[in-house]
This record gives sequence, structure tokens and C-alpha cells, in this order.
Amino acid sequence: MEQQQIDNRNRYALITGATSGIGYELAKLFAADGYHLILVARNEERLQEVADELKNAYSVEITPHAKDLFAPGAAEEVYQFAKNMGITVDVLVNDAGQGEWGPFIDTELKRDIDIVQLNIIALISLTKLFLRDMVQRNEGKILQVGSEAGATPMPLLSVYAATKAFVLSFSAALANEMKDKNITITVLLPGPTDTDFFHKAHQQHTVTYKEKKLDDPATVAKNGYEALMKGENKIVSGSTAKMHVFLSDLLGDEMAAGNARKQNEPSDKEGRTTITHEPSRREREAIHATEGDYQKGVRPDEEIKPF
Ligand SMILES: NC(=O)c1ccc[n+]([C@@H]2O[C@H](COP(=O)([O-])OP(=O)(O)OC[C@H]3O[C@@H](n4cnc5c(N)ncnc54)[C@H](OP(=O)(O)O)[C@@H]3O)[C@@H](O)[C@H]2O)c1
Repeated sequence: MEQQQIDNRNRYALITGATSGIGYELAKLFAADGYHLILVARNEERLQEVADELKNAYSVEITPHAKDLFAPGAAEEVYQFAKNMGITVDVLVNDAGQGEWGPFIDTELKRDIDIVQLNIIALISLTKLFLRDMVQRNEGKILQVGSEAGATPMPLLSVYAATKAFVLSFSAALANEMKDKNITITVLLPGPTDTDFFHKAHQQHTVTYKEKKLDDPATVAKNGYEALMKGENKIVSGSTAKMHVFLSDLLGDEMAAGNARKQNEPSDKEGRTTITHEPSRREREAIHATEGDYQKGVRPDEEIKPF
């Protein structure tokens, strides 16, 4: 462990979505191993809080960078920011991602497009820009945070699941393209996890959120981090996600979609109402609403209106 900290002393990881949930826990693991970090999310105040916390706990350099990855071109700006800072990014973690619950005909088109922009376009852009530099150095690692949803068509979460199917396919293809190089691409498929995801997605009234056991984001992050460090191509985190992915392969699209739908239906049980994971609870408090995301075009430090 001590040896690893020495090796990583001048290494940098760039993590999107690092202020809450799985991304926050990944940031902690990198910092504990001695990586310096560039942390990306939208809320400047939360970024600074997390940066201070990690700096104090692990004595590494933390550079917070507030950026809204819903905005076209924002990913390129993140890349340029790292370049201008003279930082070589050894590990890229594409964690930031969102979904929106509801029948496809009812969700707002703008919200669907934002989700595609964040989950796919920003991820492709950051991957291409940083991967080209990694190939030049013949060294680097990328962790793509996908989802078990990428392995299953998901009624009532259709756009989200389809974006994660992209992440799964894209990552496997790139892992193959990189196989003769000293570069690895790892995709992490978490199952339902105790973060702010469900609240942003207006999904907290569903069977999954109210009735099912949610994974601890610290465990999910650890599984992803270990697979990344070993250079594995794919890791499905936890037994529930493993079972869902297995069943989905077994059942075929039509039956798998029917199964997934049951989990995404509203539940009338009392059930879970709040997030247990403390940093994700702070993310929810920062949004100043019980459900939904920051309204598009409203910066976190301006008047907040939930979707
Ligand atoms: N939770 C689950 O059940 C689950 C399951 C499978 C996969 N995943 C995946 O895990 C990843 C992390 O999600 P999570 O569950 O940890 O969610 P979370 O608690 O909501 O955290 C999301 C993080 O992404 C940032 N973010 C959101 N929108 C952004 C934007 N437009 N631009 C820049 N940053 C943005 C958030 O900070 P700001 O709000 O300040 O921007 C926050 O740091 C996502 O890709 C998600 O799809 C989650």
C-alpha cells in the first residue's frame, strides 16, 4: 500500500460527478492512494467542500472545476482546462450521469436530450480527447460508469437505459482497440445504489427505490476502482446487479423489459424516502428541492427551480 502511494504521488485523475454518490466515493479512493485530482461537477460550493475535505484527509492536490456537462462543448472546455493547468491526466473517470423517470411520451424532450448530452456526448468527448493523449504516452486508464440498465431495455427509464447501453458497447469496443497498448478501459455496471440519482430522476416513488435494497456507493466505487486498477474490461457490482444482467441475457429483450418495468412502476408502500449516504444527502440539500434536478439554465448559485 505504501509503495502504491509513492508511485501515485505525481499522478492525476480527473473525475466527473465527484461531489455525490459513486463519484464522490471514487474520488476518496483515488485520494487515499495518493492521486492528485481534478473534480468536475456543477455546484461550485459543493466542489469546494469536497476538495477541502479530501485535501485535509489525504494531503493531495485537489483542483475543483465547475462545469455543466449538459452544455454542448463543456467537455472540450474541461479538457482545455486540464491542458492549460499543465496537468497530465493519468486516469479519466466518466461518472457524471442522470436519468429521468416516466413514460417516454410524457418526459420533456429537452430533458431527454440533456441526458443524452451528459451520458453520451460528454463521455465520448472526454474519452476521445484524453485517450489521444494517453495513446501518445502509451499509458493511461479510463473508468466509464455505466449501469446494469445498459444491459436491459427499461420501460419508464427508456432514454437513460439506452444511454447506458451505449456506454457498455462503446467501452467494450475501445477496450479491444486498446488491447495492444498500455491503456485500459473499464466499464462499471452498478445496480440500484443509495445516491441522489433517484431524486434527480423523479424516481423515488418507484418499487426499486421504496422497496428494494440499495447498494452502498462506497462498495460500488471500491469494486469499480479495483477492477480499474487491475485493468479489467468490465465489472458488474454486487450480486443483485449480477443477477439482473444474467437474467436479462437469458430472457431476451421482451421479457427483460417486462421484468424491468415492474421495478420501475410506482409503489404504494411506505418504504424508503431519504438517502442514507451523507454526501449524496448534501447534494440533495444543495438542489433545494425534494425531487428533480437543477432547472436548466439556472446555475446552482442562482434562484433554484426544480424540474
Ligand atoms: N445510483 C444508482 O442507482 C446508479 C445505478 C447505476 C449507475 N449509476 C450511474 O452512476 C453515476 C453516478 O451517479 P450517482 O448515482 O452517484 O448520482 P448522484 O448522487 O446524483 O451524483 C451525480 C454527480 O454528477 C454530477 N452531475 C450531475 N449532472 C451534471 C452535469 N450536468 N454536469 C456535471 N456534473 C453533473 C453531480 O454534481 P452537480 O449536481 O453539482 O452537477 C454529482 O456530483 C451515473 O453515471 C449514474 O448513471 C447510478
